[in-house]
Amino acid sequence: MKKMGMCSLRGWKGVLGRKLFVFATILFVASIVYFYIDFPLKISNRILENGYHQHEDDVYNYEEIIQKEEGQAISFNKSSNDVIVFVHIQKTAGTTFEKFLVRYQQSLPCKCQAHKKRCNCGRNASNETWLFSRYSTGWVCGLHADFTELVVNSCVQRVLDKQAGHKKRRNYFYTTFLRNPTDRFISEFRHVQRGATWISSKHVCDGKPASINDLPTCFDPRIGWEGVSLEEFISCPYNLAFNRQTRMLSNLSLVGCYEHLRKPSYEQDKIMMESAKQNLRQVFYSDYYTQVKKR
Ligand SMILES: *[C@@H]1O[C@H](CO)[C@@H](O)[C@H](O)[C@H]1NC(C)=O
Ligand SMILES: *[C@@H]1O[C@H](CO)[C@@H](O)[C@H](O)[C@H]1NC(C)=O
Ligand SMILES: *[C@@H]1O[C@H](CO)[C@@H](O)[C@H](O)[C@H]1NC(C)=O
Ligand SMILES: *[C@@H]1O[C@H](CO)[C@@H](O)[C@H](O)[C@H]1NC(C)=O
Repeated sequence: MKKMGMCSLRGWKGVLGRKLFVFATILFVASIVYFYIDFPLKISNRILENGYHQHEDDVYNYEEIIQKEEGQAISFNKSSNDVIVFVHIQKTAGTTFEKFLVRYQQSLPCKCQAHKKRCNCGRNASNETWLFSRYSTGWVCGLHADFTELVVNSCVQRVLDKQAGHKKRRNYFYTTFLRNPTDRFISEFRHVQRGATWISSKHVCDGKPASINDLPTCFDPRIGWEGVSLEEFISCPYNLAFNRQTRMLSNLSLVGCYEHLRKPSYEQDKIMMESAKQNLRQVFYSDYYTQVKKR
């Protein structure tokens, strides 16, 4: 009897724990969505330093910069050409967030159909999407596309221009989730152990997908890596789980793409780290404040 009591108590605790966890996660995500979309986002003057001006007409003109410097708040404008781009790093709660964006937040409802993975987040007037992510546009720039694929190789811009049928100026609001690197690594290991490989990721860099020479796989692609031991997982030098967050947020053109996996070097790691930090500061939202970048 006693034993049974303990069992059911433990079961009850487990259920409560899970519910609490889900609730806490939803609260967390909801507050982030609130801040991203509804909170008046201020522009920081760092826009002046950023080096992403590719075309003359993409640069803020002088008056615009002065206005913004003087503290005019810039917020996501749902009727303008603003696009939220979600950079989904594996095992950072990205899927939950992406589902939330298309299905549960109310400020910018997407049109979803039952049994369809993707929703239409087109603007009412133009039907052009305001959200670039897995459940709206899908993985159009490749599975778990990274900063190098999305931004350095201009995939987002190319895809959206193609959908619109012409070139267009947009404000891109890059967002991502980060997680404690060790927790994330373990979580990725467990996911791979369960059978995930992300083998169809393209890893575009310097304009082309990484070849098998640039980026050897840690396992036989016909078999996969299911059931891998932690020992084997951490002993493969080409395991992209290492340093994944830094790599996926840095400009890999600066370090010869995936060369760092063949010849690990402290110098290159440092360049990647600096690049990732700079991108987070300049291209992504930081805290609740953002910079808007016109490209
Ligand atoms: C949002 O964009 C629309 C269309 O470009 C514009 O008319 C409107 O003034 C903008 N709203 C804000 C708050 O900037
Ligand atoms: C489209 O219209 C609906 C209903 O009027 C509105 O709630 C929604 O915010 C609009 N979506 C966009 C992207 O403007
Ligand atoms: C709007 O775009 C979506 C895909 O982004 C498409 O499925 C849908 O048919 C379009 N709707 C209209 C009215 O053009
Ligand atoms: C990435 O690095 C390359 C090589 O230095 C540079 O030409 C390019 O402008 C950089 N792109 C971005 C978006 O940082």
